[in-house]
Amino acid sequence: MKFAKRLSDISASPTIAVMQEAQRLRKQGIDVIDFGPGEPDFPTPAPIKQAGIEAINADFTKYTASSGIVELRQAIADKYNREWGTDFTPANVVVSCGAKHAIYNVCTTVFEEGDEVLNPAPYWVTFPEVVKMTGAKPVDVITTEEEGFILKAKAVAAAIGPKTRGLIVNTPNNPTGALIPGDEVGRIAELGRRHNLFLLFDETYEYFTYGETKHVSLASFVKASDDFYAIVGSASKTYSMTGWRIGYILGSKPLIDKIGEFQSHAAGNPTSVSQKAALAAILSDPSLVKAMQEEYCRRREYVLNALSEIPGFSCPRPDGAFYVFPNVTACLKASGIPNSEEFARFLIKEARVTTVPGSAFGMEGYIRISYATSMENLREGLGRIKAAVTTLLKH
Ligand SMILES: Cc1ncc(COP(=O)(O)O)c(C=O)c1O
Repeated sequence: MKFAKRLSDISASPTIAVMQEAQRLRKQGIDVIDFGPGEPDFPTPAPIKQAGIEAINADFTKYTASSGIVELRQAIADKYNREWGTDFTPANVVVSCGAKHAIYNVCTTVFEEGDEVLNPAPYWVTFPEVVKMTGAKPVDVITTEEEGFILKAKAVAAAIGPKTRGLIVNTPNNPTGALIPGDEVGRIAELGRRHNLFLLFDETYEYFTYGETKHVSLASFVKASDDFYAIVGSASKTYSMTGWRIGYILGSKPLIDKIGEFQSHAAGNPTSVSQKAALAAILSDPSLVKAMQEEYCRRREYVLNALSEIPGFSCPRPDGAFYVFPNVTACLKASGIPNSEEFARFLIKEARVTTVPGSAFGMEGYIRISYATSMENLREGLGRIKAAVTTLLKH
């Protein structure tokens, strides 16, 4: 069948493909440990679920305002104003069906054919695909392990060309866990302002940080009325609500109005019941999120220690999100396995562990391991990887 040209270069999400591969093997009775998905393993906290149940029982099950219910937009604006001293109102917020949808909304509204959009690599798999869907061209800006995969304003400035329209920033980062320090976020904001470079900041993992460096939102460097940015957030990871599909965008009123018009035709509204649950989540006691953050922190420590004992692996110490991105080039070289995709295949076959190859994120020689899974799985899975790699390197 003939498909639209704008989708000719798009492929299915490799992380979802890994999840499906693990499910396929499990169906065959094979015991697979899945380090693939970027999905919290905790249940959605009880008060959030209760708000969803109450919304259903109150028949809050019809269309809502297409940009989201005003109480939720207000709660999101208040959260940012409280945390970052901004001046947002509900007019600066659109609620969408997850951060993924929010990113699609922003890119469709701002980017077009002929534009280039800077995309720091390693990148979350969806960014370049969404840019391509708009007709614009994603251009990689490489961040390096030596610099902790931290995006530097200097590297962005050097990559700006005559067609550059935007930059996508994800901090804390998927897949590397890198966190951009506040002063560097400020320098990137300044570049946006000076060069009319549209900044799309994805802050989905904002509360999951573990070291000395703290997450600093782009919000602390912009006014609500500035027209060179959008900030995207999500209820998915923060409150373990991936299936409820609630994300949001903050930006200037004209941008938010235009996105609202687009969303009103493209999606109608985000799910009514999920909006009530997300409202309860955003208004919930911070201890709910803190408990998850502390558990991730414990797991990160465990994973880093376990990885340090695997021959051929070296792992930068990430400050945020819930991923590690070990360098496996020594392993590839010593074993003759040609690339990260083949290495991930080897791990499925010999260790019965799924990971995501670095190539999916635009960086060869690495694999991504998600520690959004139980300690028991981490212990078992990392033990299996160690055994398989030790045997591999003996031959
Ligand atoms: C960086 C980043 N942004 C956005 C998302 C998507 O989040 P949501 O479930 O809100 O669509 C993910 C999910 O993996 C992510 O890693």
